[in-house]
Amino acid sequence: MRFSTFLTAVASLAVGVNAYWLGDIQHQGLAPFAGNGYKVFRNVKDYGAKGDGVTDDTAAIAAAMNDGGNRCLQGCASTTTTPAVVYFPAGTYILSKSIMPPYFTQLIGDPTNRPVLKATSGFQGFGLVDGNPYFGEPLNWVSTNVFYRQMRNFVIDTTAIPPATAATGIHWPTSQATSLINIQFNMPTDASTVHVGLFCESGSGGFMSDLTFNGGATGASLGNQQYTMRNLVFNNCKTGIIQLWNWGWTYINLQFNNVGTGIDITATPNGQPQTLNVGSAIVMDSTFKNAQVAIKTRYTSSTSPDTAGSLILENVSLTNVPTAVQGQSGTLLAGGSTTIAAWGQGHQYVSGANRELNGGITPNSRPSSLTSSNGFYSRSKPQYQTLAASSFVSARSSGAKGDGTTDDTAALQKAINSATGGKVVFLDYGLYKVTGTITIPAGTKIVGEGYPIIMASGSFFGDINNPKPMLKVGTNSGDAGQVELSDFVVGNSGPAPGAVLIEWNLASDVSNPSGMWDVHARVGGFRGSNMQVAQCQKTPGSANVNTNCIGAGMLMHVTSKATGLYMENTWLWTADHDIEDSSNTQVTVYSGRGLYIESTVGNFWLVGTAVEHNHLYNYQFANTKNIFVSMFQTETPYYMPLPDATKVFPVISSLNDPNYATSCSGIAGNCAESWGLRIINSSAFYVYGAGFYSFFNNYSTTCSTVSAGENCQSRIVSLEKVSNINIYGLNTIGSLSMLDRDGVSVASWKDNVNVFPSNIILYRSG
Ligand SMILES: *[C@@H]1O[C@H](CO)[C@@H](O)[C@H](O)[C@H]1NC(C)=O
Ligand SMILES: *[C@@H]1O[C@H](CO)[C@@H](O)[C@H](O)[C@H]1NC(C)=O
Ligand SMILES: *[C@@H]1O[C@H](CO)[C@@H](O)[C@H](O)[C@H]1NC(C)=O
Repeated sequence: MRFSTFLTAVASLAVGVNAYWLGDIQHQGLAPFAGNGYKVFRNVKDYGAKGDGVTDDTAAIAAAMNDGGNRCLQGCASTTTTPAVVYFPAGTYILSKSIMPPYFTQLIGDPTNRPVLKATSGFQGFGLVDGNPYFGEPLNWVSTNVFYRQMRNFVIDTTAIPPATAATGIHWPTSQATSLINIQFNMPTDASTVHVGLFCESGSGGFMSDLTFNGGATGASLGNQQYTMRNLVFNNCKTGIIQLWNWGWTYINLQFNNVGTGIDITATPNGQPQTLNVGSAIVMDSTFKNAQVAIKTRYTSSTSPDTAGSLILENVSLTNVPTAVQGQSGTLLAGGSTTIAAWGQGHQYVSGANRELNGGITPNSRPSSLTSSNGFYSRSKPQYQTLAASSFVSARSSGAKGDGTTDDTAALQKAINSATGGKVVFLDYGLYKVTGTITIPAGTKIVGEGYPIIMASGSFFGDINNPKPMLKVGTNSGDAGQVELSDFVVGNSGPAPGAVLIEWNLASDVSNPSGMWDVHARVGGFRGSNMQVAQCQKTPGSANVNTNCIGAGMLMHVTSKATGLYMENTWLWTADHDIEDSSNTQVTVYSGRGLYIESTVGNFWLVGTAVEHNHLYNYQFANTKNIFVSMFQTETPYYMPLPDATKVFPVISSLNDPNYATSCSGIAGNCAESWGLRIINSSAFYVYGAGFYSFFNNYSTTCSTVSAGENCQSRIVSLEKVSNINIYGLNTIGSLSMLDRDGVSVASWKDNVNVFPSNIILYRSG
């Protein structure tokens, strides 16, 4: 033990075993379907882990994670019934084998003194933390169905493993509602090192932030459909990032120091050097210091598919980097010590015409209300590490049951109202049924344990023509103040066709915005929703609507005078399958609308958000401005066009609903299908990455292939009476038109074919 480590250990003994409130707080989370005595919270030390830097803690940590009989690991498809929060106090935990967190598990270290997970020299396994193991040939979980897990506040140390022995820090093929935050990877810096910090080969993500990679052959090896990654530091890695494949990716605030190559997006399938695996990447507000090459690409006007390997750089600073962008046959952009204002490769639609982009472009002119010292404003999830356990007000101690059946409306309101004077509401794990509106006034902070869910239920939410809020943030539109919400889910229990799960009224100062981090919606498809296989199994070929499967009117509504909201890692999901079902059988569940922002004031940040399977649209913006987006991601409901978007939900004109019955006149194909994105009467959008996907017709994917002509739906993005809309990296799948402006198609999928989607790397509406 080094002397400084010794002092730290003594200091932590002096203040008690747990320096962080999460360790000290009373643990009374209830998982009502997990059996009597099931523990949601587990401190690894209670299971015998020593964290002393000597003892092998592998078995004790596994015992903490697997406690409770029915945890979902080998052979289990997925579940929400057996949650776990596994807490690691400060210490050095020795691992000789991978630890494998079961489904619906959070691993949380003490952020005030991050625990170290340290591999033995003879370590065996694919990742110190293996987030989706290969027990056999395929991954244990279908990686696109791995939701609701997170890991934060750790140091991952592979330095004891010989440098030339293959080693991986974290293996993380996962999807929406997952995150890695505040993790440092320490690897050998020897020339012979083959270590990889983070390995992710597949999934549909996602979000990560605040990761540091020291040493190793590769900091992060990344393959996934789409991602936002923010605030990553790479020190002394041979290559910072190897992109294995993707459809779209946005990197924000990366720093590379003393690396060979920063980011390599040249991946090709074996033996096909002209065919690329990487769809596109966006790198913004990033610095490269002492690198040989910042970015390696292969894009040329003759690579295949047509737009694969597209790239945008914006505000990228170089210090002593000889080559900024290296192509297949030499330097494409020289380096030095300079700042690249903006540069790109791919297809651009800037003044109507489609033409090759290969070179410098004008960067976005960013409104000052959206920026701070680091570029566009950002803020990581608050962890409240300066507060003591006494600063938290427990929902269950306030009388809420969280058992999935009791009406907890009054008790939750009581918890919120009593958390005054800077106190934080602690939403103990549970399923909280509510039958009316809960008001969240300015000043409120709520943090969940695991991913508890608040569920709209009953007749108050029954009127499909008159949706009412379940959580109302700010009493009236334009109320001043700030709110912080993190780590919980909103959803439904039974039909709630008139529920708006979150209504956001608050007007927060742009210098101190409100925030939502890891706050998700889940409508149907889980135990407690009463919209599972038994009630809502899909019925392909039938347009009949089972009204018992209408789960929500709208997932989130930002009202006209609201402003100043930062959303990070938020997934608003109407279920396409039953998470509890052993085959993940598909269900038909209806929600009217996804995320609707109609703030005339503007100033919103959507960082790593996704909105899926909503009926009239996934994202809609009206009468607004100053919107920053890192990666829009949507999917059209799989049941469409049976029924199509003219059925099920009424057109509510006060909500600016799209009226497909009129707007589709004269449009060929499946026109009356949910917009991925609709922007009306708005301006000043700065979109860094987008994926709008329509994979299915009537539950069949044959429409979403190049050979079938990408004809699942006619149109997917609509801009109506807009100006100054700037989109980098627009990806669409299954839509004939990639983007429509005032009812006219701007771009066809055929002209912009990418690895699976079609891609336009630069669109500007003017
Ligand atoms: C450019 O990026 C750096 C971080 O690398 C940031 O500090 C700076 O504010 C950004 N510039 C603008 C104009 O946003
Ligand atoms: C929808 O799918 C079902 C089952 O695959 C099939 O029987 C039916 O003919 C399809 N209907 C339409 C209109 O495509
Ligand atoms: C367009 O949006 C502005 C606010 O940004 C609003 O004042 C105006 O009424 C809107 N126009 C229409 C036709 O809705």
